[in-house]
Amino acid sequence: MKTRTFLILIFSLLVVLFAGQPVQATDIEEQIDQLIEQMTIEEKVGQMTQVYFVGQPSRFEEQVRRGEISSFLGSVLSIMAPEERDELQRIAVEQSRLGIPLIFGFDVIHGYRTIFPIPVAMSCAWDPELIEQVAAMSAHEAAVEGVDWTFGPMIDIARDPRWGRIAEGYGEDTYLASIMAAAAVRGFQGSDLSSTASLAACLKHYVAYGAAEGGRDYNTSEVSKRTLRETYMPPFKAGVDAGAATLMSAFNEISGIPATGNLYTLTEVLKGEWAFDGFVVSDWHSIEEMIEHGFAEDSVEAVTKAIIAGVDMDMKDGLYFDELPGLVEQGKVSEELIDEAVRRILRIKFRKGLFTHPYIDPNLAETGPSNEEKLQKAREVAASSMVLLKNNGLLPLPKDLESIALIGPFVKNRSDLLGCWYAAGEAKDVVALLTGVKEKVSPLCDVLYAEGCDIDGTSTDSIPKAVAVAEQADAVILALGESRGMSGEARNRSSLDLPGVQQELVEAIYATGKPIVAVVFAGRPMSIGWLNENIDAILFAWHPGIQGGNAAADCLFGDFEPTGKLTTSFPRGVGQVPIYYNHKNTGRPGSSKYVDMPGTPLFPFGYGLSYTTFEYDNLQLSDTSIAPDESLTVTADVKNTGERASQEIVQLYICDIFGSVTRPVRELRGFKKITLEPQQKKTVSFVINPTEHLSIFNYNMDYVVEPGLFEVWVGPNSSEGLEAEFEIIEF
Ligand code: BGC
Repeated sequence: MKTRTFLILIFSLLVVLFAGQPVQATDIEEQIDQLIEQMTIEEKVGQMTQVYFVGQPSRFEEQVRRGEISSFLGSVLSIMAPEERDELQRIAVEQSRLGIPLIFGFDVIHGYRTIFPIPVAMSCAWDPELIEQVAAMSAHEAAVEGVDWTFGPMIDIARDPRWGRIAEGYGEDTYLASIMAAAAVRGFQGSDLSSTASLAACLKHYVAYGAAEGGRDYNTSEVSKRTLRETYMPPFKAGVDAGAATLMSAFNEISGIPATGNLYTLTEVLKGEWAFDGFVVSDWHSIEEMIEHGFAEDSVEAVTKAIIAGVDMDMKDGLYFDELPGLVEQGKVSEELIDEAVRRILRIKFRKGLFTHPYIDPNLAETGPSNEEKLQKAREVAASSMVLLKNNGLLPLPKDLESIALIGPFVKNRSDLLGCWYAAGEAKDVVALLTGVKEKVSPLCDVLYAEGCDIDGTSTDSIPKAVAVAEQADAVILALGESRGMSGEARNRSSLDLPGVQQELVEAIYATGKPIVAVVFAGRPMSIGWLNENIDAILFAWHPGIQGGNAAADCLFGDFEPTGKLTTSFPRGVGQVPIYYNHKNTGRPGSSKYVDMPGTPLFPFGYGLSYTTFEYDNLQLSDTSIAPDESLTVTADVKNTGERASQEIVQLYICDIFGSVTRPVRELRGFKKITLEPQQKKTVSFVINPTEHLSIFNYNMDYVVEPGLFEVWVGPNSSEGLEAEFEIIEF
C-alpha cells in the first residue's frame, strides 16, 4: 500500500473514531500534520484562499473539487441559500482528494435576520451580557442557514464621528470596548466552538482602522506604537484572550506600514506576544491594495509581504493562489511559512467541528430561541440602547393625550432603522415609529402624521403641511435623522448636522409653540446643539433594528425607563472633531480652546438621563495609599431621588496625575448598572487592582504600575462625579 493511501485510511479512521466526540487539541495537531504531509502546494494555497460567492454554486464546483478554495464569503448582495452551501460542502468533503471541509463566512454584525441595534447603539446599554446574548442569538440564526464564521465583532476604537464605521464598533473608549469585544466573542462562539449553533468570530479590523485621518474611511492612521498599545490594540487582546478564532487585517496603513503587511502588529504582537493560534484573514482586496498604498511594486511583492507579515488567508483577491506556488518554487517564500498558515486555518476548521459535522445541522432550526423571544430581545436591547439626552419634563408622554402629531422623515420609515450591515434583515420586518406609537396610545388619542421632508432632499414644499398637522396636536414627536446609507463602510460625512432640510422642518415646527420631543435615528453622534437649546426633549435612538418603533415608543411613554449612556462624545460642531473624553492635558489647559466654540463636547462620554434623578454621595476609599500588589476599594452611595424606579450606570474613572509619560485626564476603569426604587439608596463599590487598572506603558514601553498620586471619580458620566485621591507607594 502506498504511503499516501495508507495515511488517508488512517485519517478517515480517525474521523470515524472521533465523530461526535470532543476532539482533543493534540489529536487535532496530529491530524493537521497528517493532512499537511499529503497536501500539494496547490492544495495548500487553496486552503489559504477565500472566494466571494456570487452567482451559482456550479461556477465553483471544479475549483472546490480540486481543493483550490478554502472558504466562501457572502454579502448582503449575494446571500448563499442553505442548499447551495451544502452542495458545495458535499463536493469539498466527498469529492475533493483530501476531503477538507469549506468554511462559510458572512458579516453577521448586529443580527442575521432579526436585526438588533447597530453596535455603537448596543454599547450604550453598558451591558456585556446583552451583547453576549445578541451575539449568541445571531449566531444561532445564521448557523441555521449555513454560516460558520462571522466577520465580527468590529472592535475599532473610533474618536471621529465623521467616519461612517463608528456605527459598527463599541465607541471611543478602550476599556469599555475591550469588555464588549470579549462578550461578543463569547456570544458568537459559545462555550463550545464546535457546536453547530456557534459561529467562529473574527476580530476586525486589526488595527487602528478607526484612526483614519479626516474620518475618511481607508485613510492613513498616523499612530505611534504607544497609542497602538494603549488605545487601539487592547480590545483585540481582550478578544484573543476570550478565544476568538480569527482576526482580520485592516485596510489602513499604520504610520507607513499597511496593516496587511505589518510584521510588527500581526506576527510580533499578535502571534508572538499574545500567542494567538487561530488565523488571520486579509480584508477584502487589502493584499492587492498594498500596491496602491505604494508598499508593494506588484502583486508578487504584495503577496510576499502579506504572507511574511502573517496574513494566513487571502480574502477575495485570489493572489495567494496565483502567486504563492511560484514564490515557493523560487525560494522567495518558504514552504514552512505556507504550512504554518495552513495549519492555523485547518486548526480552526477542526475546532469549529467542520470535519465532524460539515453540513447544516438539520435539527438546529428547532432548537434555540423562538421568534417571539428574538423579537422581545430585539425590543429590549433597542430600548436599552437609546439615550435620553434632554428632558425638561415633557417625557414620559401620557398615553391619553387627545392628539399627537408625528412629524419627520422617520415617521413611517422602516428600511433605515436597520442601519448598516443588516445581513439578511428585511425592511418589512421593521416596526416603524408610527406603528409603535399607535400601539402605545389610548384608542381615543388621535395620531396625526406628516413627513415634512425627505431625509436628505432639498425640497421644503411639504413643510407647511407638516406645520398644519402639528398645529392640530397636543404634542409633537419629531422623527429625524440619517439614512442607513450615511454610515457604515465608506459612508463618511463632512457634516454632523441633520441632513437635507430637516433643520428647516424642525424650526418651522418649533415656531408652532407645541411641546416637542425629537427622536433621532442615526449611525453616528451628531451635533444637535440647536435641538438641545430649543426642543423640550431628545431621545437618541440610533439605528435601532427591527423593533425600533416599539422600543422608542416604550421609552417615550415610560413603559421602559431610558437608561442608556453615550459611549462616544457628541461634538457641538464638526470643527471640534476628534473629541474624546480621555484626551491628554496640555501645558495650558485653559487656553487650548476655540475662539468661536467651547472646547467641551455637547454631551460627554458616559452621559445619559433617565426619568428619575440620582444623587451621588459619601465617596470612601478603603485606603489612601497602597503598594502596587495591594488593592483598594472605592465606595459611593447612589440614591434615587425621583419618583420612578430606574437603573443607573455608575462609572469609575481614574487619572494618573504624573508619570514617566503623560496620561489622559480621565480613564474609565469600572462601571456598574444598578436598579433603584424611588428614594432607595445603594452603596456601590469598585475594587482597584493596580496591575489590572493602573498599569501603563512607561517611558521604556514596559507595562508597569508607576508609584505616585492618582485621582479617582465615581459619577454619572465622564465630566461629573465625586472625587478623591490615593497614592501608590513602593514598599
Ligand atoms: C469590510 C469588512 C467585511 C468584508 C467582507 C470589507 O469591505 O471592510 O468589514 O467583513 O468587507 O464583507
